[in-house]
Amino acid sequence: MKILVINGPNLNMLGRRDAEHYGSDTLPAIERALTEKSQSLGCELVFFQSNHEGAIIDFIQEKTDEADGILINPAALTHYGYSLHDALVDAGLPVVEVHLSDIRNREEWRQISVIADLAIKQISGLKRQSYILGLEALVEHINSGKKK
Ligand code: DQA
Repeated sequence: MKILVINGPNLNMLGRRDAEHYGSDTLPAIERALTEKSQSLGCELVFFQSNHEGAIIDFIQEKTDEADGILINPAALTHYGYSLHDALVDAGLPVVEVHLSDIRNREEWRQISVIADLAIKQISGLKRQSYILGLEALVEHINSGKKK
């Protein structure tokens, strides 16, 4: 089983961003924790981060055929990334949306996710643990054989 783990704009700066919202883990630290978890779940992870919506869309299009699911923190694209939304729909893979901070309890504009309607699950506010629980939920969904 292969999972694409995608991080959007500014998440390469984790560790230097507001720790209250995002925690103090760097992105490589989060990726290491996910890799460790993937070993017990029996899945392979392919990591990608970009500050550019188009580059994320190119990656999704290139990798769709070899992947079984997508774990994504779209970062600010969560709130307005309609082309990212469409690329995720077109991929036809199960998607879990994760956020480090609790987007439902922040500024009004952050409370809107244009990705949530296509995701099988959204996990928000648990810092690094959002990714771990998100991966678990995605793998469980794929193993259950449910469609989308
Ligand atoms: C984020 C929340 C977004 O609103 C923000 O733009 C981010 C990170 C999170 O993980 O909490 O960059 O997706």
